Amino acid sequence: MNKCIRISKEKPVPEDRKTYADAVFSLVGGKDYKCFVQTFGCQQNEADSERIAGMAAEMGYSITDKPDEADFIVVNTCAVREHAEKKALSLIGQYKHCKNNKKELVIAVCGCMPSQEHRADEIKHKYPYVDFTFGTSDLYMLPELLYRRLSGAKRTFIIPEDKPPVVEDIPVVRESNYRAWVSIMYGCNNFCSYCIVPYVRGRERSRHPDAIEAEVRQLIAEGYKDITLLGQNVNSYGRGCDFDCDFADLLRRLASIEGDYKLHFMTSHPKDATKKLIDVMAENEHIARQFHLPLQSGSSEILRKMNRGYTAEKYIEILDYIKEKLPDATLSTDIIVAFPGETEEDFEKTLELLEYVKYDMVFSFIYSPRNGTPAAKMENVVPDDVKADRMRRLLDLQTRIADSLNAECLGKTYRVICQGQSKNNAGMLEGRTEGNKILLFASETARDGDYVNVKVTKTHAYALYGEEVK
Ligand code: SAH
Ligand code: SF4
Ligand code: F3S
Repeated sequence: MNKCIRISKEKPVPEDRKTYADAVFSLVGGKDYKCFVQTFGCQQNEADSERIAGMAAEMGYSITDKPDEADFIVVNTCAVREHAEKKALSLIGQYKHCKNNKKELVIAVCGCMPSQEHRADEIKHKYPYVDFTFGTSDLYMLPELLYRRLSGAKRTFIIPEDKPPVVEDIPVVRESNYRAWVSIMYGCNNFCSYCIVPYVRGRERSRHPDAIEAEVRQLIAEGYKDITLLGQNVNSYGRGCDFDCDFADLLRRLASIEGDYKLHFMTSHPKDATKKLIDVMAENEHIARQFHLPLQSGSSEILRKMNRGYTAEKYIEILDYIKEKLPDATLSTDIIVAFPGETEEDFEKTLELLEYVKYDMVFSFIYSPRNGTPAAKMENVVPDDVKADRMRRLLDLQTRIADSLNAECLGKTYRVICQGQSKNNAGMLEGRTEGNKILLFASETARDGDYVNVKVTKTHAYALYGEEVK
């Protein structure tokens, strides 16, 4: 049951109801009301949306994928780059017609965008049909906010506190029955100079290992095979807490649970990645052979301006250790192209590092200034044509690297999880290897969530193709 029992003076929980969720149920239950949740952004937001769906179900809504038939729309937003915010605002704009068609429709906006005061203010004034907004750490307040609004209270716009509580036991409706997200911590203390996340997700706080273990045990017992532990910097898990368990200890503890499953995690910050963590991975088959280690830039000078807390040399040291202990691991990274002051020489250092490491996957982003972050005020902004040119060169190089790495997979057999029909390749099923590579194959019998052995018969820079092996 939801622990959201905050008694407000304006609309207290009615005496015959135990919780706000229960109170909303008394208004909408049995009326065939539907909730539509739209998600932007990272896995953390996807995990939050599954909790929103869980609370909606508890309050008596069924979940729909059609905004037009919804009675309650929740838009869970991202603010990491300007493009993400623009997309969310444009979508919220489109929901005006839904409200025009159905006056009793409730529209809520949550996530990282309205956690910034200027955005909450903008929504309040420019989108008068949005009923309420709430921040990433106020998720648990959803039933209260909805109950208040349904019973006639004014529109509300909640900006999250800097040190919010860790709230357990929020109900969840998961999208998949074989892949699951498990948040192990919230917030971020790193303040990389370009990044909005610490401002919108508050200070770092970790869940208790007992609560995490209980959730993971239950998932494994229910047959989940792919479990991803989430945090903005999982390597600082447990820091400053009253229990003695760091991330490597937590992984060891979770990986000792019996069953047929793999644990993944993201994101690992290079400044806090330890040899102990890599040793624990090497020892345990339940931890996927995959390492996502965001580099951001190959230039130590740019890394200093980014406030990343490591040099290119320190990064290579930890990466070399990963390669030594986990030679079969899939490697991936994030790169920001054209950070303020990035010279041609700095950029070439990034390309050189990519050549040296040979990542299987690189997620690259053109730097986007974020209001309120130190980098937004930095000088020597890189001109647009140079940004585009650098991005193209980076993608060309990475395509070449990925192409030759994938070619080495030819003839090998991988155990993949079947994830259903491929959207881009008609008649093919899409599988994911343990290292998260896409492997397309044909099968008469495989269903979503099945493990399938597939032998690679053709390779590409961004996908592998193969045949099922019985
Ligand atoms: N906590 C994670 C990542 C969070 S955001 C980490 O530290 O790695 C995901 C990625 O978005 C970042 O790794 C970075 O590459 C990119 N990113 C963040 N802020 C950005 C900005 N202002 N402009 C462009 N890319 C950005
Ligand atoms: Fe942003 Fe840096 Fe925190 Fe990642 S570690 S969320 S990039 S501030
Ligand atoms: Fe976006 Fe917030 Fe995630 S800004 S990337 S949804 S933490």
